[in-house]
Amino acid sequence: MKKAAVLGFPVEHSLSPKLHMRWLKECGIPGSYEAIAVAPDALEEKFKQLVNEGYAGWNVTVPHKEAALKLMDELDETATKISAVNTVVVRGGKLHGSNTDAYGFAANLQEKLGRVPTGKTVVLGAGGAARAILYALAKAGVSGVALVNRSREKADALAANYAGMSLHGWENIESAMQDADMMVNTTSLGLTEPMPSLPWHVMQKDAVVADIVYKPLMTPFLQEAQSAGKTTVTGIGMLIHQAVPGFQAWFGATPTLSKELETWLSQ
Ligand code: ATR
Repeated sequence: MKKAAVLGFPVEHSLSPKLHMRWLKECGIPGSYEAIAVAPDALEEKFKQLVNEGYAGWNVTVPHKEAALKLMDELDETATKISAVNTVVVRGGKLHGSNTDAYGFAANLQEKLGRVPTGKTVVLGAGGAARAILYALAKAGVSGVALVNRSREKADALAANYAGMSLHGWENIESAMQDADMMVNTTSLGLTEPMPSLPWHVMQKDAVVADIVYKPLMTPFLQEAQSAGKTTVTGIGMLIHQAVPGFQAWFGATPTLSKELETWLSQ
């Protein structure tokens, strides 16, 4: 029986076991995928244990994505560029780390819109999640990124790796949003404090607004965007798409995606 898992701390909230167990059932594969809570100081030991127990691989989620990077025997280009690992595949006892978050983001836009918008794009936040989005945008050939962040240091650190990116504080959000084709939220904006009102009207009329948060599905940020007449993309599709490469690598099959799967997973 092939085994995989998601490692996080905490990890009970993860929807990945529900998703992978459904795909295993649909594909008729005798396998398992469980959530394992691992404290940061136990991560290295847990990786060794899972290899010894014959796991095919695992996902790594908050707060382990950066720490996992240093524990890999091999890294693919995406994980190296994003400086974070979310998918581990065991090959001959060696750990191969990749990052499928950028792929998941772009594949979801492709599915929902039939394209990845390539005009000016606003990214809110400058953490690990923002790095994955920036990598996806660069790959898609986005022509200009306006990064909005509270702290200047994190934004500066990112700017060093992405040529042509403009940096904005929240007080300059209007200039960041001016004529933008897309805006992506990678922060908990509106979830821990009231949602600030944003100048949606300065964006392009048919602009796309995406959130990578999927709990709640319609975040206050997306609700505001929708009320302003923008096309919105929730975070659940990215979660589903980022899971596909791991499932393929561990279980050797390609899962089926559908609108019904999204609805079922987010309930
Ligand atoms: P992740 O790995 O999920 O991206 P992170 O590395 O903690 O998490 O980064 C979260 C980002 O969201 C940060 O850029 C943070 O801003 P700071 O760099 O100023 O800390 C941003 N962020 C988090 N909560 C926010 C909020 N309520 N409003 C605005 N920005 C927020």
